[in-house]
Amino acid sequence: MGTLKPQEARRIDALLGRMSLAEKLGQLTMMAATHTVTGPVITGHSTDDIRSGRIGNLLNLIGAGAAREMQRVAVEESRLGVPLLIALDVIHGHRTLFPPPLAEVALFDPEAWRLTAREAAREAAADGIAMTFAPMLDVSRDPRWGRIVEGPGESAWVGRRLAEAKVRGFQGNDLAAADSIAAVAKHFCGYGAVTAGREYASVDFSERALREVYLPPFAAAVNAGVAAVMPAFTDLAGIPMTAHAGLLRRLLRLELGFDGVLVSDYNAVAELIRHGVAADLIEAAALALRAGVDIDMVSGAYLHGLPAALERGLVSLAEIDESVRRVLILKTRLGLFEDPYRRGAALESAATLAERRRLAREIGARSIVLLTNPVEALPLSGSLRRLALLGPLADAPGEMRGPWWSAAQPDTQVSVLAGLRAAWPQARILHAPGVEIAGEDGSGIAAAVELCEAAEAVVLCLGEAATMSGEAASRAHPELPGRQRELAEAVLQRARARNIPVVAALFSGRPLIVPWLASQASALLAAWFPGCEAGHALADILTGRASPSARTPISWPRAVGQIPLYFGQRGSGRPADPANSYSSRYIDESNEPLFAFGHGLSYTRFSITNLRVRPESAAASATVEIDVDVQNEGSRRGEETLFLFVRRLQGRVAPPLLELHGIGKIALEPGARGTLRLHLPVAELRSLGPDLEPVLEPGELEILVGPSADRASLLAGRLTLVV
Ligand code: NOJ
Repeated sequence: MGTLKPQEARRIDALLGRMSLAEKLGQLTMMAATHTVTGPVITGHSTDDIRSGRIGNLLNLIGAGAAREMQRVAVEESRLGVPLLIALDVIHGHRTLFPPPLAEVALFDPEAWRLTAREAAREAAADGIAMTFAPMLDVSRDPRWGRIVEGPGESAWVGRRLAEAKVRGFQGNDLAAADSIAAVAKHFCGYGAVTAGREYASVDFSERALREVYLPPFAAAVNAGVAAVMPAFTDLAGIPMTAHAGLLRRLLRLELGFDGVLVSDYNAVAELIRHGVAADLIEAAALALRAGVDIDMVSGAYLHGLPAALERGLVSLAEIDESVRRVLILKTRLGLFEDPYRRGAALESAATLAERRRLAREIGARSIVLLTNPVEALPLSGSLRRLALLGPLADAPGEMRGPWWSAAQPDTQVSVLAGLRAAWPQARILHAPGVEIAGEDGSGIAAAVELCEAAEAVVLCLGEAATMSGEAASRAHPELPGRQRELAEAVLQRARARNIPVVAALFSGRPLIVPWLASQASALLAAWFPGCEAGHALADILTGRASPSARTPISWPRAVGQIPLYFGQRGSGRPADPANSYSSRYIDESNEPLFAFGHGLSYTRFSITNLRVRPESAAASATVEIDVDVQNEGSRRGEETLFLFVRRLQGRVAPPLLELHGIGKIALEPGARGTLRLHLPVAELRSLGPDLEPVLEPGELEILVGPSADRASLLAGRLTLVV
């Protein structure tokens, strides 16, 4: 957590010496101020509890005025004047919303990831917030799980890069700065692997999976200096993470060296009772504290249970003091003792806010993945006179916010309708929703289809409501909800008869299972939730003002039965072979995804040739240079993203089919040719041997570079490791 100045350390010692047990427990307690996205307020609190020191931390307090007033009570009216830590879920923006993390990952641009976190931090800090419960680093290969939208997607390597970028963005160069906020890496660990994608369900995987897949993003966050970590709600092989001393104390703290604050998830300490590992709040509190959880979020277990736990000898005063010390250190590092009002002190200028919205529009457009465009229906012609804009997401500004909206109001979001009107002022936009997002009412379908008669093109906005992904939003049928398919099929049929294109834009927090739409639409876009400038961002893509450059950060299944589906799976002793029924395949579906990880088209075409690997034989300390020639063969400027995969051909542990080791981008004018260089430090090729110790095994491996994880799209070279 960085070193404290001597006077800061002395202040913490002095405070600890003066605190009563109740005041100590107050520092270990976080209570909710209001109801926000995260669920009902479980334990009410009063300002008196802040004054008496029984509450030392708050979440869900929105507005600089309110934050300042609560801070004033803590600092000026409580006995010891310890400042409050005020936290909020600032996940993809605060007042200005950016696309949610999974959509942002589609940019494959760590600098952009950092930048949006920086802007979110500045905006939240201006509202008096000192800590965000982000980044969410749960690798997940299960689109049924609604929270897949909040994280890095299927790749641990991406999770590591995302962790570094977001921690740097939120925390800035100096955690004490008035525009920096503490980051919380969550949810430690493996939440993305809940059974059958069902929210809050049990998790069970091997220690190898833990160390290869679920842990690395957290290790990266710790290395980047993350201030806090939140254990997951879930259990791992029967031990709830909130009470998992092995993972929290031994692995996270001792092995990874994390010395920051552990903050429980919402009510998770009390939920140890429902998990069946604690009889009452006293035992629950003792289990969590002993596992190393410093702050109890809203359950009141520490406040009400720890005094008795202490009396019974279930915890020691030294353990309580250790946690209080960590909380006080964090408050010190945030500069709260120096000036508790530094955040929330200055209003942001109109120019800053306008620039932030400009950024939101740019990031929004850059997050939209062009999944198909077989007849080049996109971009739409600038001279369109009549455009039918159909579907329940076409005029749904509030839905554009996505799963976490912090302090953003629905009426500050730009709908697709508003965006298209601004983009085609000369055109008539004929709009009808046709159906509701999830309702059973199909009475509007005929009227919507009729609008195709007069139109030159159709834009069909389909998908999920914002609350259908995120927390508590698992779906057993991750498809188009309600009667949207019926609407889409009727529209497609009419459009075919009239020979006009239908461009389908999917709004969702997960890949949706829509092979029928992918094969019938003239073009298909994964728009995710593009954030507050959604309509403008989508219009930028539709008009061709921006060329799509995003890539899907997650494999799109063809069928629910393929889940979990991901590029990093291991092979088989009987690999899929269409001619052999005793091979690893389905008898009723392809093994392949509908769209592979990394897939995404643009308005131009790139060819890649001439892969060079230098040196071709390398030792552990070397960095290998990998070059590939890229040519823009189309007639527009565009940006190509290439992925560097490795396939270890042999090892004592069966290697994954593909391992991601890098991303590179190159922007080229029409007809231009360039060389993209990727760097691969050989040390990064260490894998976990049979005993889970890192090893670098000698031998040959394949170096694969290309635009997606689809094997057919990759150029292959060889590298020999001499170790
Ligand atoms: C529950 C969620 O699991 C967590 O991600 C969030 O930070 C907390 N609620 C606080 O809102």
